[in-house]
Amino acid sequence: MNKKIAVIRGDGIGPEIIQEALKVLDKIANIYGHNFSYVDVDMGGCAIDKYNEPLPKESLEKCIESDSVLLGAVGGEKWNNVPGNKRPEKGLLKLRAGMKVYSNNRPAKIWPQLSEASPLKKSIVDKGIDFIIVRELTGGIYFGEHKIEEINGKSVATDVLVYNEDEIKRIARIGFEMAQKRNKKLCSVEKSNVLESSRLWKKTASSLANEYPDVKLTHMLVDNCAMQIVKDPSQFDVIVTENMFGDILSDEASMITGSIGMIPSSSLGLTTCGLYEPIHGSAPDIAGKDKANPIGTILSAAMMLKYSFNMEEESKAIEKAVDEFLNSGYRTEDIMSKDMKKVGCKECGDLIVGFIKKA
Ligand code: IPM
Ligand code: MG
Repeated sequence: MNKKIAVIRGDGIGPEIIQEALKVLDKIANIYGHNFSYVDVDMGGCAIDKYNEPLPKESLEKCIESDSVLLGAVGGEKWNNVPGNKRPEKGLLKLRAGMKVYSNNRPAKIWPQLSEASPLKKSIVDKGIDFIIVRELTGGIYFGEHKIEEINGKSVATDVLVYNEDEIKRIARIGFEMAQKRNKKLCSVEKSNVLESSRLWKKTASSLANEYPDVKLTHMLVDNCAMQIVKDPSQFDVIVTENMFGDILSDEASMITGSIGMIPSSSLGLTTCGLYEPIHGSAPDIAGKDKANPIGTILSAAMMLKYSFNMEEESKAIEKAVDEFLNSGYRTEDIMSKDMKKVGCKECGDLIVGFIKKA
């Protein structure tokens, strides 16, 4: 198959981790007879430096015209003082909105080889961690009105959290469908004891339950959910939640699996053109030092093959190679433990490429 992939290297460790993911994709193309072409796209801090815009119009167009988008990470201290609507992160939000990818899936699954790297007690980890957070990605407080003004000589900042029922319905449906394919448990997470938007969230999710009789729908307040994720993560199968709660809970969920560096994500809307990115940030402190863990990005590329290109076997071949890498005792610094062999970002990519085999 011929596929055109838009590639956003971004800032910080972004270019390093993307380089490794592209090596992996090249190997897959090679052994399975596909042709992947890459179109470089500027976004984030590097785009601000070049065009004074975190997501120039042409960048968004290139992404929409591609078969899918692979993204490293954006942001860094250098751009911390630019105005809010010009920040590198704003580029990412504009990209998500422009591509209309409202459904962000973030798996929290522990690799058995990394159970030592989890900060949770062994007795908790041994019960298993394997759930998915379905995060609403193009609405809520991230996209409501943001403003800062002077009122009576005081600075006052406002961020509006708004959802309409259609936005909630379409993401809740993704949650139900995902649960149907897994262990048939959907937990809708909100703050309905305080927020009106959460009461609408809960009511709307409940109203769909009778269309999915095989799925057991439960409701949980977000603060309780944050606690349950560390107390007993084995209780979760699929969590569906709004944008900001999903942002926070997915960092927590990644940490209990060992390292945020391991977690990929997919963002999809109505078409198969998706946005694939690791859930971690640009980690400026280790940028350019060959210390980053490229596995989250490599697994994001695997998700792209599966969800956007329907290449199930190819995607599995990448996951297997990562498994073999870990089985062979190799670790990047973030997941390093006693008696393991420490490797840098580049060597990690090379080893994984070496482990890829056609099934
Ligand atoms: C994430 C990140 C982004 C978000 C930032 C970089 C805007 O934290 O993808 O989780 O908050 O969505
Ligand atoms: Mg985040």
